[in-house]
Amino acid sequence: MDSIVVRRSGELRGTIPIAGAKNTCLKLMGAALLSEEPLTLTNVPRLSDVRTLTQLLESLGVEVAPLAEGQTLVLSAADLTSTTADYEIVRKLRASFNVLGPLIGRTGEAVVSLPGGCAIGARKVDFHIAGLEAMGATVELRDGYVHARGDLKGAEIEFPFASVGATENVMCAAVLARGTTVIRNAAREPDTKALADCLIAMGADIEGAGTSEIVVRGVDRLHGTTHRVITDRIELGTYMIAPAIAGGSVELLGGRRDLVGALCDKMEEAGIGIEETEAGLRVTHAGGPVRSVDVTTAPFPGFPTDLQAQMMALMVFAEGTSVLEETIFENRFMHAPELIRMGADIDVSGGTARVTGVDGLRGAPVMATDLRASFSLILAGLRAEGETRVARVYHLDRGYERVVQKLSGVGATIERVRDDG
Ligand code: EPZ
Repeated sequence: MDSIVVRRSGELRGTIPIAGAKNTCLKLMGAALLSEEPLTLTNVPRLSDVRTLTQLLESLGVEVAPLAEGQTLVLSAADLTSTTADYEIVRKLRASFNVLGPLIGRTGEAVVSLPGGCAIGARKVDFHIAGLEAMGATVELRDGYVHARGDLKGAEIEFPFASVGATENVMCAAVLARGTTVIRNAAREPDTKALADCLIAMGADIEGAGTSEIVVRGVDRLHGTTHRVITDRIELGTYMIAPAIAGGSVELLGGRRDLVGALCDKMEEAGIGIEETEAGLRVTHAGGPVRSVDVTTAPFPGFPTDLQAQMMALMVFAEGTSVLEETIFENRFMHAPELIRMGADIDVSGGTARVTGVDGLRGAPVMATDLRASFSLILAGLRAEGETRVARVYHLDRGYERVVQKLSGVGATIERVRDDG
């Protein structure tokens, strides 16, 4: 396994290119199942999650042709050979569960392994299943798999919580269903809107994506299209916090404020400068204290849970005490004990973390536990005295490409090393 070693870095200066969105790309790849014609995706991030989902789609009979060193994928689902998404792949990539909707929408049946929980929470899928049942599917949970079957028809569905995955699974199932589906309390994430934009380009009839009410009128078939994957708002937000911690001025190429509005508001409240440029967003912290701010995670347009760990790494160095409320997942403070090992003053109680700023941290060997937590440790290491060694960086490879190149490109002292044995 590899580790990433980061040392206290001076001010960061330069530009960081932001890649295509991991979570959106994974759902767009699943949408290819809905058409016999090829779906071409550009600006695809080069991540292990994309490679894992490619394996799953190929096991269903989808031909996936990578072009431009993997930044373009041509997915052809003309002749599906299976409707079963195997546990061996789904367990590695929970997002695989989102082939359920397109698969049953296209073929009338799907057998998909239950994704199970993960480090950050139970990750239930009851809303997904309830939505499909409302559309007339019969769904059985057997041997760890969801067995869904049915000739879907439009339905009115209201989610108890604005679930991203459930909204996207049901939306994909509805595009070829007979009649009209209304999804209320739908997720409003830009990722969900981007998925709808792609489906519309393929011939789907969808209104209201990006709002809490999405209306899908079923059509007979979808055709192919070429779609550019939207900028990754979580990668964008993650790298925005690097100059806020280390100081300096960094331009994030491809960044857009509307993708990270809640983060920008909180960073500006903390005293960080953010400006929109021709090529993206520029983040500047010209020294001086960072003010502590309180953050509560919430569905979009609220503060993203996927940026909570990274914001905590900033608050560790802030003046005063900040209160971080994690409302989306049950166990998403695993980065806190690792930051405490570096000298942070954090008190976690249930879904609340109280962070009291300290003058400095000391580098230490720390452990990555999940995708976003692992990056928060790297961010803290940019300012900690000495060396911070983050082990198990395979977590990082799932969602961030070329981390060492991107951060060293703006002056960070960072390298990737192979662990002995
Ligand atoms: C997506 O997960 C993202 N993953 C997550 O990103 C992100 O944190 C999350 O949305 C929230 O924005 C992908 O898109 C692949 P949810 P998802 O359904 O769809 C509960 C990352 O780091 N829930 O909005 O699973 C669930 O338990 C990852 O990139 C039910 O109870 O999120 C959770 O507590 C982490 N029943 C909450 O809702 C359901 O049927 C949010 O889940 C579905 C969800």
